[in-house]
Amino acid sequence: MSTTTRIDNKTDIKIAVVGSGYVGLVAAVCFAEMGHDVICVDNDERKVSALQGGDTLIHENNLPELLERYRNNKIRFMTDLGEATRTCDAIFIAVGTPQSETGDADLSYVEAVACEIARSLTTYKVIVEKSTVPVYTNEWIRRAIERNGVARELFDVVSNPEFLREGTAVSDFLHPDRIVVGANSDRAATVLSAIYAPLTDGEYYTRPDHIAGPCTADAPPPLLLTSTKSAEIIKHASNAFLALKISFINAVSNLCEATDANVEQVARGIGLDSRIGPKFLRPGIGYGGSCFPKDVAAFRSVADQLGIDFNLLTEVEKINTHQKKRFLSKVRSALWTLRGKRIGVLGLAFKGETDDIRDSPAIELVEMLLAEGCTIAAFDPAAMKRTADALPPGPNLRYVEDAYAAADDADALVILTDWQEFGTLDLNKLNTALRYPIVIDGRNLFDPQVMSDHGFTYLSIGRPAAYPVRELTASTSPTP
Ligand code: UDX
Repeated sequence: MSTTTRIDNKTDIKIAVVGSGYVGLVAAVCFAEMGHDVICVDNDERKVSALQGGDTLIHENNLPELLERYRNNKIRFMTDLGEATRTCDAIFIAVGTPQSETGDADLSYVEAVACEIARSLTTYKVIVEKSTVPVYTNEWIRRAIERNGVARELFDVVSNPEFLREGTAVSDFLHPDRIVVGANSDRAATVLSAIYAPLTDGEYYTRPDHIAGPCTADAPPPLLLTSTKSAEIIKHASNAFLALKISFINAVSNLCEATDANVEQVARGIGLDSRIGPKFLRPGIGYGGSCFPKDVAAFRSVADQLGIDFNLLTEVEKINTHQKKRFLSKVRSALWTLRGKRIGVLGLAFKGETDDIRDSPAIELVEMLLAEGCTIAAFDPAAMKRTADALPPGPNLRYVEDAYAAADDADALVILTDWQEFGTLDLNKLNTALRYPIVIDGRNLFDPQVMSDHGFTYLSIGRPAAYPVRELTASTSPTP
């Protein structure tokens, strides 16, 4: 076991963060906000110069303000990992771990970073895996560094998974439910505990300009010390469990549709049980994003490799895929046939309040609708540029300036992303813009009764269909 490190001043620890994606950039900026000196390293020169110029590159609340406050003083951006390694005490690896063809996480970027760190490692450092990685990665990083000739006592590898959500990433980082530190040495655990001390001892929450959130000086977040393997499993298991909750409520919503029950009432009834909890029980068109699909697949693959039967995760994925097909059928049931229909689409991002379109169920549905021969006018408050790069506009696909333009002369309006601002649209204006007042809502943003009162045929997820008050006819009812 390594010797214990004495840390006199918590903010004396210099931190390097490798990778300036969602996790890396948010972690770097938040460590600066906590009072540490930070170097953020990325091998993409264009990204580094954009960040040096104050461009956050991603749409994230609080991030531009914090970057402006700390860039060029508490936080520096560079491409030189060697210099960052020599200068810093703790090096957080937050590079991408994309999904490979087999479902495993591709760890080649993590390995490349570990080898590069090893080349500049001459005094004791704590290497921290922050990227979402499968169990045993910690050991692989250690082996890779040792193979590059670094003595065992010169470093420790710690697992410190991140649980932030896009859109609320900064506040999630500074107000976590828990901080998980997987360390097999006291020395490394001491360094990590000191890094997070401004949060865990509550000091951060007493600062007059702190970012507001649920934690307070009296109720600071707990730091959970575990083994490295437990920490790795905690991350995958957390995301897999949340995905499971979503698939579960989606399956229940289908049951509600078949019985004319209301899934919102059912979810509330289940969620009030404190053992279950109300969160992540919102039904919809399935989960997406850069984490859940990839992490569920990676966790399943880990189980496969270890000979553990975890078919539950395969079912979670199946329900998620099915949910999108089911929504397409719902659109068809409202319009009878799809070929040649004009559809207004609200939302392209994988969820509201972000411009991220990675594994977005909304984009999958747009592609399905196009494949069925529909013509689409789409609007998203932040994700249109990214979507247009991936899915260029053409005769059947237009990107328009607002929700009313998407609805203009459309045969139906389809809601695919839960942007808050969609919930406050002027319903009379929307009704006038549409050729037929039909809304198919994949995110349950509206009250069916209100939609009915405003003259819409309204289909949503797991709730009885609603029809215009004066026009309740069999011909508009969806197929059972
Ligand atoms: C997720 C985890 O929440 C976070 O802890 C982890 O660090 C990264 O992955 P994120 O991908 O930002 O965060 O999004 P999240 O808010 O969790 O939503 C994921 C997907 O599930 C979205 O497509 C969202 O629309 C969907 N979702 C979420 C539902 O369909 N229903 C819900 O009740 C909640």
